[in-house]
Amino acid sequence: MAVVKLIHPIHTLEDQIIFDKGDDFSTDILRELIASNKAPDFPATSLLAYGDVNNDLKRFIDNPPYKVIFSDEKQRNEILGVMSEVKLPYPILQSLDYFKKYDFHTYRHMLMIFALATLLGKVMMPDDKDSVHKASVGPTHDFGKICVPLSILAKPEPLTKSERNILEQHTTAGYALIAYYTNDVDSFAARVAREHHERRDSSGYPRGIAQNDTLVEIIAACDVYDALISPRPYRPVSYDNRTALEVLTEMAEKKEIGWNVVQALVAHNRKSKPHFKDFTVSPEKRGTSPPGNSYGITVDDEYVYQENEK
Ligand SMILES: [Fe+2]
Ligand SMILES: [Fe+2]
Repeated sequence: MAVVKLIHPIHTLEDQIIFDKGDDFSTDILRELIASNKAPDFPATSLLAYGDVNNDLKRFIDNPPYKVIFSDEKQRNEILGVMSEVKLPYPILQSLDYFKKYDFHTYRHMLMIFALATLLGKVMMPDDKDSVHKASVGPTHDFGKICVPLSILAKPEPLTKSERNILEQHTTAGYALIAYYTNDVDSFAARVAREHHERRDSSGYPRGIAQNDTLVEIIAACDVYDALISPRPYRPVSYDNRTALEVLTEMAEKKEIGWNVVQALVAHNRKSKPHFKDFTVSPEKRGTSPPGNSYGITVDDEYVYQENEK
């Protein structure tokens, strides 16, 4: 199994370093660490009952476009029922306090992915209870961002290449930490943390593998969608809903993600809620991306150095 060299430490919220900068990392190394870990089991607690999560979530859902996506009250209550069964190890729940305080975007984003991925899981696999439960692991997909310095997470200017590399390592960090807290390198939540930026055509990161798991893809698509329609430090104006859905459509056209999940997402943006299988997504692109969007733009580290020297 491939071994990578870490470019930034992987640590807990209490700053306990699990892997240091320069350490070798692989699933086997992680498995060994977990096997030798004498720490007690981390108790699991209900996510929806934690802190203000339930109220915050309802407040976030009450805003467009989620207000329309969750407009079917019976369905919304069903989804909240599934979500109320999700339990997470306490240290993972505590990350919500951290993000709520220091990076509210990520806090809101985690809760919205929780709700939206559970909904799409239920819509796409209505009779598969196990899969719907798996889709509800969405909130932990970005857990590894606790290892990304806030100066990078909140940076309004384009990231340097080394900053982007540290940001992208949130996938490996999330994988390692969730496996550590659940004592399970094969847990689905750990896998989602590692693979939610991988794409069907292998154009994603961190490993550039071909993503063909529908459940991981549901979370990946919700992740992109919510990021586009939300304000972000690197983009003063967020995407309007139509343009965001068109970006997702374009990703399906380029074979980065599957059509089913895009159909389900677009169909749920209709008040009539047509069944995703009977729904054709329009290929027309009429939206315009917002101005001043620096997402995906990186600058050379030397460039920033020179700018600082001026
Ligand atoms: Fe992510
Ligand atoms: Fe995310």
